[in-house]
Amino acid sequence: MSHATMDVVDQQVADLISADKVEEWTRQYWEQGEFLALERLMTPSVITEFMQEVDGVRPKINRNFIPKHKKGGSVSYYLLQESAPAILAFYQHPEWIKMLSHIVGVPLLLCPDHDPHACALYFYTEPGDHIGYHYDTSYYKGARYTLLIGLRDRSSSRLVCRLHTKDPGHTVQELSLATEPGTCILFNGDKLHHAVTPLAEGEERIVLTLQYVTDPAMSFTHRWFSNMKDAVGYFGWSALFRRPTR
Ligand SMILES: [Fe+2]
Repeated sequence: MSHATMDVVDQQVADLISADKVEEWTRQYWEQGEFLALERLMTPSVITEFMQEVDGVRPKINRNFIPKHKKGGSVSYYLLQESAPAILAFYQHPEWIKMLSHIVGVPLLLCPDHDPHACALYFYTEPGDHIGYHYDTSYYKGARYTLLIGLRDRSSSRLVCRLHTKDPGHTVQELSLATEPGTCILFNGDKLHHAVTPLAEGEERIVLTLQYVTDPAMSFTHRWFSNMKDAVGYFGWSALFRRPTR
């Protein structure tokens, strides 16, 4: 990776830390039932760097379709490890992980190298691309946290969220969000019920997803179930037999 690219990523993390908003973000995260949405948080220069890498992996998108549940394209962590150094550097940045850990209140770790979701791209590029309501269920022994970063949103699709579904006695709150470039959305995967509404003709929406865990161990049964789900729903069967080259 070029020094200039690394500087852009380091500068972005430094800016986020020096903004001195971490206490405010932590309060919002917990008030919203372990959910935080920050519009256009990241700078256009870092998004431009990421988009150059996105354009590089575009020919390798895996398209998937599960009737009545999801339709879209994805690029796995395996491919990003080979060809997206700026995105990887951001995902693995120790200062950034430290800040996220402060917000969620537990020390976060990277997902294992063999988890294709650890750091992945989701492409909504064809009419009707969407995903139905789901949780980002943790198959790990520990909790799993998702950070979504909007990279491009020329669409009428919305990330629709239902907050507090697991908080007894709390009214469920519904939100409908555009994921514009630089917008960051952080949540506990087992707490947020969410979906993406269908894309219309001629639209495009690209998001980066970063996954962090508190304990990367996984039971054999959960590993099997998780692999099947990934092969069918996201990255194709070839991903099952691939291992990162790093
Ligand atoms: Fe999700």
